[in-house]
Amino acid sequence: MRLTVIGTGYVGAVHAACMADLGHRVLGVDTDAERIAALASGRPPFYEPGLGALLRRGVDSGRLTFAATLADAARFADTHFVCVGTPQLPGTGAADLRHVEAVVDGLAPHLGDDALVVGKSTVPVGTAGRLAVRLGGTAEVAWNPEFLREGHAVEDTLRPERVVVGVRSRAAEDRLRALYAPLLREGPPFVPFIATDTATAELVKVASNSFLATKISFINAMAEICDATGADVLTLARALGADPRIGPRFLAPGLGFGGSCLPKDIRAFAARAEELGLAESVGILREADAVNTRQRRRVVDLAERLTGGHLAGRHVAVLGAAFKPLSDDVRDSPALAVAEAVRGRGAHVRVHDPEAVDNARAAHPQLSYALDVAKACEDADVVLHLTEWPQYRELDPRALAAVVRRPALVDARNALDAHAWRAAGWTLCAPGRPRLP
Ligand code: UDX
Repeated sequence: MRLTVIGTGYVGAVHAACMADLGHRVLGVDTDAERIAALASGRPPFYEPGLGALLRRGVDSGRLTFAATLADAARFADTHFVCVGTPQLPGTGAADLRHVEAVVDGLAPHLGDDALVVGKSTVPVGTAGRLAVRLGGTAEVAWNPEFLREGHAVEDTLRPERVVVGVRSRAAEDRLRALYAPLLREGPPFVPFIATDTATAELVKVASNSFLATKISFINAMAEICDATGADVLTLARALGADPRIGPRFLAPGLGFGGSCLPKDIRAFAARAEELGLAESVGILREADAVNTRQRRRVVDLAERLTGGHLAGRHVAVLGAAFKPLSDDVRDSPALAVAEAVRGRGAHVRVHDPEAVDNARAAHPQLSYALDVAKACEDADVVLHLTEWPQYRELDPRALAAVVRRPALVDARNALDAHAWRAAGWTLCAPGRPRLP
């Protein structure tokens, strides 16, 4: 089958490469010539394991090509996936639909009767219906949310847990089912193809992310209770997660969520619901957001406690800049928010990250950066472990104790071996674990 992917950012680049790998002929469309050139030579413009190989395979086979205009897109195929960004508007946090609308308006004059415009961007419920009106009946609109996680995007796309499509006709449903047929397994693990109306499909995405965000904030709220009562949140999370109705995933207590999706999506969803007069229904999301923001401050307070109540003039080593491990993405990174807050209290901050230093430097030029952990920790009064990269678990606490000024560590992700660090002479603190030495 032939299809286009309009917008080759994170979601679009992955979708285009994966669809080509399934055997479809794919045209990626983007106005950014530099990005197109990188993708066409098999270089992903961001860090994503496995994507480079997939891109090269698609390009070499001739199934994956790129172009710059919407007229090219309309000539190439009848099925168009819209993967442009929906950033957060200042103030209410509502989604900015400017890019999605520009694509739809730009495509409209070129589309034939058989065209299907499939939105993948995360949008407020009701958007597909409004875009259909905007298209004026020339083409049909469908919605097909993605659920991919950064760092696992290829695997999440090629081995999905479900495929959800919101459609307005049987023909659109059949076309999308045929497109995804190679991914829909009948045997275990069964991959359901859930066809529904566009409003439900739009909601599935924001409701999923809202649930995940709420789950994380729930355990972080419990961490606050643990801190006040002497209980241990890691043991609590393990015991809660053993109940299959709860499950252990997204129950890791610590610095909380960040990135380009969870924070933005819950705010946009809450703003949309408030617009519909349903503020009460999403009060839980405003609360999840508040709990999440509070965790950043709590980690800064822990750092301050370990430096005897004064961060001003202290040297602080920050391990981690990406919003999560296996990613170079620093958008709404809790780690960098903490680094900035610590700097705001007068500390000298040196940041290390295995992949995200370039992006961090561009977004936060006022922070200092180090290319290896030992350099970041040199003469530090306190070390803050803020993004749980696997390599930080392999660090030798004894070797690091020799380079810092004081062996004091905040494990904000509750991910390091507290016993090993303590045995090497470190003083440790971690959110929700008040009885650490
Ligand atoms: C998320 C959703 O998982 C994905 O389905 C959606 O399509 C996009 O948003 P992503 O932003 O890539 O994906 O990251 P994810 O792995 O979900 O982590 C989000 C944030 O939550 C990270 O900052 C992570 O550190 C944090 N997190 C996750 C926790 O603090 N605790 C946890 O237990 C799990």
